[in-house]
Amino acid sequence: HVARIVADRRADGAAGRDLLARLLAARDDDGGALSESELHDQVAVLILAGAETTSSALAWSLHLIAGHPDAERALHAEVDTVLDGRVAGPDDLSRLEWTGRVVREALRLYPPAWVLPRTTTRAVDLAGRRLPVGSTLVFSPYILHRHPDFHPEPELFRPEREYADGTAPGAWSRSAFVPFGAGPTKCVGDTFALTESVLALASIAARWRLRPASATPVRAVPRSVLTPRTLPMRLIPR
Ligand code: HEM
Repeated sequence: HVARIVADRRADGAAGRDLLARLLAARDDDGGALSESELHDQVAVLILAGAETTSSALAWSLHLIAGHPDAERALHAEVDTVLDGRVAGPDDLSRLEWTGRVVREALRLYPPAWVLPRTTTRAVDLAGRRLPVGSTLVFSPYILHRHPDFHPEPELFRPEREYADGTAPGAWSRSAFVPFGAGPTKCVGDTFALTESVLALASIAARWRLRPASATPVRAVPRSVLTPRTLPMRLIPR
């Protein structure tokens, strides 16, 4: 499938300014292009890292909104004012403040990357244990995001919560909200993902109200991405 995406793009002359066109046009310092397998890897990692994570964030946002009438009312009020029925575009982003809060709060409760690996680059003491260089450890954004020391009443969906990224005031530990990881390997697509999710949620909410289509409780399953097991929802025109 990835090979076809690359071949199709080559066949149309790699026109345009999208990411694949840029990858095809990219040259290293010696003037060489990316090899076929390098291109393949770049496309595959972008699909893997970017698609299911973002769709999961959007799915959880819609699920949470359906169960929280006050947050839904605030969402509808915002999108009605900002969009007036239109599809959202990048220029609307700064005015979709509540929508952004909804997405970030969904990322707190259900971080798609629920567990992340790290390798120690030197010996460290952690929680009373000596870890030698080269140790692999895993940590969980899910557990951190639901820790009551950092998030009062952590199980509650409260988009008005204070976050560390400056969108709201308040004392906050930067390390306690890490849906995109942290440090040198942090997600390269974080701004893209938030932009995409917020514009999608706003555009959907401008026209539709989503309601559960089944009485079965929605369960989170920790696969490679934390997704709802199934999430059947009915779309009701607003
Ligand atoms: C809500 C959506 C997303 C979430 C929750 C997410 C989360 C993450 C996390 C936690 C990491 C690892 C960070 C670390 O180790 O500290 C990561 C890496 C990465 N993300 Fe995202 N991401 C999302 C969307 C995207 C999008 C849209 C793109 C591309 C357009 C993207 C591209 C990448 C890439 C290329 C990596 C590095 C993969 C590697 O090192 O092999 N992500 N992401």
